Amino acid sequence: MTSSVWGDHLERWFAVIGHRAPSSGTLNLNDLAGSGGRMDVLARAVNSALFVSHGIREDSHVLLHLMGGDGPSRRIWFNGSSLGGVRPDERSISGQIKAVLKEAVPPRGQFREYTSGILHSGGDIRHTIEEWSDRGVYPVILDADGGDFSDVPPSVDLGFIISDDRPLTKQDTGSIQAPVSLSLGDRWLQGHSCIAILHYLLDGL
Ligand SMILES: C[S@@+](CC[C@H](N)C(=O)[O-])C[C@H]1O[C@@H](n2cnc3c(N)ncnc32)[C@H](O)[C@@H]1O
Repeated sequence: MTSSVWGDHLERWFAVIGHRAPSSGTLNLNDLAGSGGRMDVLARAVNSALFVSHGIREDSHVLLHLMGGDGPSRRIWFNGSSLGGVRPDERSISGQIKAVLKEAVPPRGQFREYTSGILHSGGDIRHTIEEWSDRGVYPVILDADGGDFSDVPPSVDLGFIISDDRPLTKQDTGSIQAPVSLSLGDRWLQGHSCIAILHYLLDGL
């Protein structure tokens, strides 16, 4: 448990939306940004969220939302408390994603373990927010035009929703809206940089 600007938090969750990232099929590790539908952005988010120098953040989770391609959407959950066999580089992380994409998409909400600490399920961000609600994880949309730190409740597990290079739309979230949006400043940053800033804030000063 850490004491930060937001009080004590047990777990950190990061939901990253890949609007064009393919949910099934092949992934060319040499073209993650192009035919991979910006899978490079998602892999960097996993790297920033879970890895420290010589270790893994066991209190952190990442849920990648693969919304592109022809098949049903898929979510891949990297669980920091049980993750193994992944090196902290984009290619290693993307290699694991590539392997998961060959599997059939499990039904929504049914997370199937692919390998230690990497699980996958169907569904989209609306299902993630529902599942977070069941776990007591408070959703916060990251948005440069959002609110400030005082809007974020203290001493609860926090789930941050981060988009890729495309804005999060009403179509993404449907009728479920996260109660709070948080800005980390007026300048639009890259998603993985936002994650690093959040860890800094949550680790405590
Ligand atoms: C590369 S940015 C996306 C920029 C894109 N033009 C947009 O309108 O969403 C990726 C994501 O990082 C988060 N983000 C970027 N800058 C931010 C900021 N200053 N405050 C809060 N979140 C930010 C948002 O979730 C954003 O969707």
